[in-house]
Amino acid sequence: MDKNVLDKMLRPKTVAVVGASATPGKIGYTVINNLIKGGYTGKIYPINPTCTEILGLKCYPSISEVPGEVDSAIITIPAKAMAEVTEACGKKGVKGLIVITSGFSESGRKDLEDEMLEIAAKYKMRILGPNIVGSLSNSDKFNGSFAPGLPLPGKASLVTQSGALLIAIDMATYTRKIGFDKLISIGNMADVDFADLIEWFDEDDNTTCVSLYIEGMKNGRKFIDAARKSSKPIVALKSGVSAHGSAAAASHTGSLAGAAKIYNSAFKQAGVIQAQDLNDLFNRTLTLSQQPPMKGENLLILTNGGGVGVLATDAAEKYGIPLHFAPADVQTELKKHMPEFGSAKNPVDMTGMAGNDWYYQTTKFSYAHDWTDGLVVLYCETAMTNPFEIAKSIKQAVDDSGVTGKPITVSFVGGEKSDQAMGWLVENGIPAFGGPDIAVNAMAALREYARLQENKSDGAYNCDESAKKTALAIFAQARAEKRDSLTEIEAKEVFKAYGMPVTKIALAKSEDEAVALGNKIGFPLVLKIVSPDILHKSDAGGVKVNIKDDAGIREAYQTILKNAKAYKADANIHGIAIQEMAPWGTEVILGSVNDAAFGPTVMFGLGGIFVEVLKDVTFRVTPFTKSEAAEMIGEIKGAAILAGARGEKPKDRAMLAETIYNYSCMIHDLDDEIKESDANPVLVYEDGQGLKVADARIILKAK
Ligand code: ACO
Repeated sequence: MDKNVLDKMLRPKTVAVVGASATPGKIGYTVINNLIKGGYTGKIYPINPTCTEILGLKCYPSISEVPGEVDSAIITIPAKAMAEVTEACGKKGVKGLIVITSGFSESGRKDLEDEMLEIAAKYKMRILGPNIVGSLSNSDKFNGSFAPGLPLPGKASLVTQSGALLIAIDMATYTRKIGFDKLISIGNMADVDFADLIEWFDEDDNTTCVSLYIEGMKNGRKFIDAARKSSKPIVALKSGVSAHGSAAAASHTGSLAGAAKIYNSAFKQAGVIQAQDLNDLFNRTLTLSQQPPMKGENLLILTNGGGVGVLATDAAEKYGIPLHFAPADVQTELKKHMPEFGSAKNPVDMTGMAGNDWYYQTTKFSYAHDWTDGLVVLYCETAMTNPFEIAKSIKQAVDDSGVTGKPITVSFVGGEKSDQAMGWLVENGIPAFGGPDIAVNAMAALREYARLQENKSDGAYNCDESAKKTALAIFAQARAEKRDSLTEIEAKEVFKAYGMPVTKIALAKSEDEAVALGNKIGFPLVLKIVSPDILHKSDAGGVKVNIKDDAGIREAYQTILKNAKAYKADANIHGIAIQEMAPWGTEVILGSVNDAAFGPTVMFGLGGIFVEVLKDVTFRVTPFTKSEAAEMIGEIKGAAILAGARGEKPKDRAMLAETIYNYSCMIHDLDDEIKESDANPVLVYEDGQGLKVADARIILKAK
C-alpha cells in the first residue's frame, strides 16, 4: 500500500470527473453536484467533450487539457471507453481512479477490467472499483460518489463490497445516529482491496474503527496480514454464508465467497471482530469507534428495572461475559444509593425509584472502581424521571470519575424522549441502544476485541527444513511414475518426516516377505492392498484386520490379492502393506483444503460420525502457531470428549496440538505440491500415551 497514492486518490486536492454531465439525473451530473454540495474545497474539473460548463464549473474536453495536476479522477463513462480514458489519465499523471462504471468482471467482461489494470499499472495508477458508488470522506468534505450526501460525521470508516449497501447506510447514519468519517465502495476490488484500505486507515487520524462489509475476497492472506498489523479495531460482516447466499455473492461481486467456517477462523486469526447482521455491524462499529477495549472479565450492570436487568444478565452469558457478584465493598457503597429492597449484587437494581442523583452516584462509583472492567447502564423510562436528565447524569458521572480507558455502554428503554436522550449520549461519545441485550452485546464486542488483541498471533512458525526434502523426493518418485496420488506407505513417510506419529507400515511383495515383515512389526496386524488403481481399499475387499499369526498373514495375503483382481483385473498392484494394528483410541480427523481466498487451510475435528453427520470441525489458515493448534482442540463441540467426558481420562491433547501444528507445517511447506490430504483416523490415547495416525492420504497437484 502506497499511502501517498491512496491519499491522493481518496483525499484529493484536485479531482476530475470524467464523464461529467450537465443532465440532471445522470450519474456524471450527480457526482459533480455532490462534490459541490458536500463543500469540497479542492479543485473540481468536469471532463466532457460536448460541454463548456457544468453547474458553474468550467468543463474540459479531455483530461489532458486540464491546467495543473489532477490527483484523482472519478470515472462515469461507459466501460467500453475505459481503456482510452485510463491511458489519458495515466499520461496526465493522475494518481488514482475511482471507477464508478459497471460492466466489467461482475458481468463477464473481465477482459475490460484486465485491460484497464494493465494500463493503470504502466503509470503506477491505483484503481478503486470498478462497479462502485464512489468514495466519501467527511473530514475532507469529499463526496466523490452518487450516494445522497455525506454521512453523519463520526469516527468509524466503512468499506463495502456492495455499493447499494453504502447508499442504504449513508442516510441511515442520521436516523441511527451512528457517524462515519469515510464510506468507501470497493466493488470488484480489481486493484485496491480490503487489505490496502485497512493499512491506509491505520494511518488515518480521523478513523478509530474500520467497518467492513465483505462478500468474498481473492487474497485472504494479504487481508490477514494487514488486519493483524492494524492498531485499530476492525469489525466485519461477512455475507454469503448460506449455500444459496454464497452463490448470490459470487455472481454479485465476481469473486469467490469462501466457506463460512474458514472465514470465521481467518477473522479470528487476524484479530477481526465479527458482526452477525447489518444492525450488529452498526452497533459494534459505533461502540468500537467510541469506546476502549474491555480489558478484564468483570462486567457491572446498573439498572432501575429488574426485567431489563435479567435480560442483560442473560445476554452477558450468551455473549461470553457472564456476570459475577460485585465484591462486598462495592455492594456496601452501592447500597447507599437505593432503597432497602434494591439489590447491590450484580446486576445492581436501584429499583424504579432511581433518579438522577442515584444514577450519578452509582455510575461514578462503579465506573471508577478497580473491580469494574466494563459498565453497562440500563434505564427504563418512568414518569418520575426525565430521560435526558438521566443521560446527563451518566455522562457527568463518567467525566467526574477521573477514569479513562474503561468502556461503558448504555440502554434506555422507553419512548421518544429516551430515543432523544440516547442520541445525545451517542453524540457525546457514549454508545446507547434501545435494548439491554444490545448494550451488553456492544460491551461483548469490546471484550472480544481485547481478547483478540491478547491472543493475536504473529503467524510465525518454524518447521523442519529436512522434512520438506524427504517429502519432495517421495513426490518426485510418484510423479516419475505418472501418479498424483501417493500410496499410504508413501503418505505416511511424509507425515513421519514432519514429526507425526504414524502406525508402522511396510510393503510386502510376496507372501514370505509379508510373514517376515509382520513378525518384525509385531502382531496384531492389518493387511491392505497397495495399488494406485484401488483408492477405496475396503470396497475392493482389500483390507484385513486383526491378524494374529503367520497363518493369518498368508491367508489374508492371498484373499486380498484375489479380491483386488476381481475388483479390477488390470489394477497395477505394488504389493500388500503390512501395518501395525494400533489399539483403538478416540478418533479424530485432520484434513487440508486449498481455499480459494485463503490458500492452504487445516481442518480438525472428531472423526467418525462427528465429522460425517455433525460436521463438528474447525479450521485455521496456515501458517499458525502451536498455541493456535491447541485452541482448535477447544473449539469443536466435541472438545469435552477429548477433555475426558463422563469419567473417562483426558486424552493426550498436548500431543494432538503438536500433531495439528506439524500437519499445518506440512500443508504450508508443500502448498505448491499438495492438492489435498488427510489423516483419518488419527487415534488419540490417554494423556501421556500419545496418538497414532492410522491412515494417511496425499493427492498431488497436477504439474
Ligand atoms: N470522456 C469524457 N466524457 C465522456 C466520454 C469520454 N471519453 N465518453 C462519454 N462521455 C460523456 C458522455 O457524453 C456523457 O455526457 P452527456 O450526458 O453530456 O452526454 C457522459 O460522459 C456519460 O456517458 P453516457 O454514455 O451518457 O453514459 P451514462 O451516463 O448513461 O452511463 C455510467 C455511464 C453511469 C458509468 C454507466 O455506464 C454505468 O456503469 N452505470 C452503472 C454504475 C453503477 O451503478 N455503479 C455502482 C454499482 S454499485 C450499486 O449497485 C449501487
